[in-house]
Amino acid sequence: MKATAASGEGYFDIHVFCCVNERAPGHHRGSCSARGSVALQEYMKARGKELKINQRIRMNKCGCLDRCELGPVMVIYPEGTWYHYRSREDIDEILDSHVTHGRLVERLLLRTEQKVLDPKVSTRLELKVSGIDEYPHDIRRYELMRDDGGDLPEFEPGAHIDLFTGDGLRRSYSLAGDCAVRDRYVLGIRREQPSRGGSDWLLDHLAVGDDVVASLPSNNFPLNETAARHTLIAGGIGVTPVMAMGYQLSRQGMDCHLHFCAPDEARAPLLEEVQSIFGDNLTLHFDNGDPAQGIDLDRLLENPSEGEHVYVCGPAGLVGSVREKAAHWPAGTVHWEPFTPEADQATQRNEVFEVVLSRRNLRLEVPTDKTLLEVVREAGVEIESSCEDGLCGCCRIGLLGGVPEHRDLVLTDAEKASSADIMTCVSRAKAGEVLVLDI
Ligand code: FES
Ligand code: FES
Repeated sequence: MKATAASGEGYFDIHVFCCVNERAPGHHRGSCSARGSVALQEYMKARGKELKINQRIRMNKCGCLDRCELGPVMVIYPEGTWYHYRSREDIDEILDSHVTHGRLVERLLLRTEQKVLDPKVSTRLELKVSGIDEYPHDIRRYELMRDDGGDLPEFEPGAHIDLFTGDGLRRSYSLAGDCAVRDRYVLGIRREQPSRGGSDWLLDHLAVGDDVVASLPSNNFPLNETAARHTLIAGGIGVTPVMAMGYQLSRQGMDCHLHFCAPDEARAPLLEEVQSIFGDNLTLHFDNGDPAQGIDLDRLLENPSEGEHVYVCGPAGLVGSVREKAAHWPAGTVHWEPFTPEADQATQRNEVFEVVLSRRNLRLEVPTDKTLLEVVREAGVEIESSCEDGLCGCCRIGLLGGVPEHRDLVLTDAEKASSADIMTCVSRAKAGEVLVLDI
């Protein structure tokens, strides 16, 4: 036996301990395993083998390290460096930077005295309005670019960005342009009736050359890459995300068809561009204000073809009808993005329930006249929000326990069933329930 091994010194250069402790769902402290540590530890171990760094580096699972509120946590010896991590990207950076090159990963580092995770600072993009086209009925098409005209962060069809308006509001807008055109984001904006503030501010204040602050693109309405046929249904300004889908599907030569619904030609936003994207793969449905003359969803959705997916974006009424008429379609083939909240959302009865902020050991009551988001903010914990109507996904928070009443229109049925996340702006729980949030 080697002297080093016998003495216990230097057998491994580096020893990594990842907590994989598991507690019952809903425990007030949560646990590293509830926050995803088991799969990430396995990934770390597998990556270590792939990188051939596992000879001198030991990666072990371990029990609770008593820093549960900061989890998932790992500690790396011999220095005793602590990290918080959440994703495979975090693991990759720790392996590359700390383990392989001996450099600390500052953004994931936990200080000895640290009790709460540092707030996540979202990236903001500083853009300039490079073009505006005006259309009848208060519709405008905006192009936003970087000051130097350089490439913007990539986006996928169906994605949106949030714009931060001068009156303190934040509003989400679908990206309508071609994702292959990297130097600009294209938005279609229509004045809201009734107004919710954000769009009106943009329509009234933004001029060509103005600066505007935006979030990074994110996508709650992605295309399914495996679909054999894409049926797209859009109502009014809801056409914007499907325009981006059309650019992509046409370029890829995919089977797709858009059904575009509007009262009449003048109120069909961005019609000329829509026609140039879809060509013959477009059917216009102008109902002249009489829904009976509009799209025949019964006929359109009666018999889905093999591998067909349907996507709908527009007013809640249209989205609800498509979901209802396509209820018999195979699971996972119906996709929607509403532009307005569902009518019954405001009339749902609120009950008093409790919420535990597991990373802060705080227990709070949510009264009937306040949202979960408001109660958490009043406790001094900032959560980003945008629509506050359950439409955009901005206020999404991890849920570690309790039975929620999901009232949002962002999560899929499968996501609602798993309840791994909750939209704090609208979703609640029944009386007596305790929701455990991962914050
Ligand atoms: S559960 Fe991981 S530190 Fe306690
Ligand atoms: S803020 Fe948009 S879903 Fe909650």
